[in-house]
Amino acid sequence: MENTNQEITIRPMRQSDYPKVYQLWKTIKGFGIRSMDDSEEGVARFIRRNPSTSIVAETEGQVVGAILCGHDGRRGCFYHVCVREGYRKRGIGKDMAVKAMKALQAEGINKVCLIAFKKNEVGNSFWKSVGWTFREDLNYYDFVLNDENITIFQ
Ligand SMILES: CC(C)(COP(=O)(O)OP(=O)(O)OC[C@H]1O[C@@H](n2cnc3c(N)ncnc32)[C@H](O)[C@@H]1OP(=O)(O)O)[C@@H](O)C(=O)NCCC(=O)NCCS
Repeated sequence: MENTNQEITIRPMRQSDYPKVYQLWKTIKGFGIRSMDDSEEGVARFIRRNPSTSIVAETEGQVVGAILCGHDGRRGCFYHVCVREGYRKRGIGKDMAVKAMKALQAEGINKVCLIAFKKNEVGNSFWKSVGWTFREDLNYYDFVLNDENITIFQ
C-alpha cells in the first residue's frame, strides 16, 4: 500500500531520469514501447530537441508519473502519459499535464494534441475530465518510415 501523504514533486524530465521512466513504462498495461523511439538514444534525442516540456512526478527518489511532451514549432504533442498504479486518482496526472501545457505555452505553442486508443477507457475518461476536446471529425493517419522501430505492448 502506498503512503498517500508522500510529497510529490512535478518537474521537467531530465535525460538522467530515463532508467526510472523506462521502468515505469514497463509497468503500464496497454503501453506500446518502441524499440527505437523509446530507447535511451531515442529519448535523449527527443529531450535535446525539447529540453523543458517533458515532465516527471517524483517522490522519495522514485518516478511515479511521466509525460513525454514536445513540439515541432507549431503543435505540441503528448506521448506516454502515465501514473504508477497505487498513485492514481489523486491529481498527479492532471498536475503533470498542466505543467507540460504551461511549458508549451512558454515556448509560444498554441495547441497540443495526443493519441489515445479507443479501448483505453481510463485514458479517454481522463482527457475528457481534464478539459481536452475529443475530435469526432478527424481520422488519424500515419506511415511507418522505419520497420526496425518495433512496438512491444505491455
Ligand atoms: C490516465 C492516468 C495518467 C490518469 O492519472 P491520474 O493521476 O490517476 O489522474 P488524476 O488523478 O489527475 O485524474 C484527473 C481526473 O481524471 C479522471 N479520471 C482519472 N482516472 C480515472 C478513471 N480510472 N476512471 C474515470 N475517470 C478517471 C477523473 O475525473 C479525475 O478527477 P477526479 O479524481 O477529481 O474525479 C492514469 O490512470 C494512467 O497512468 N493510466 C494508464 C496509462 C494511460 O492510459 N495513459 C493515457 C494514455 S492516452
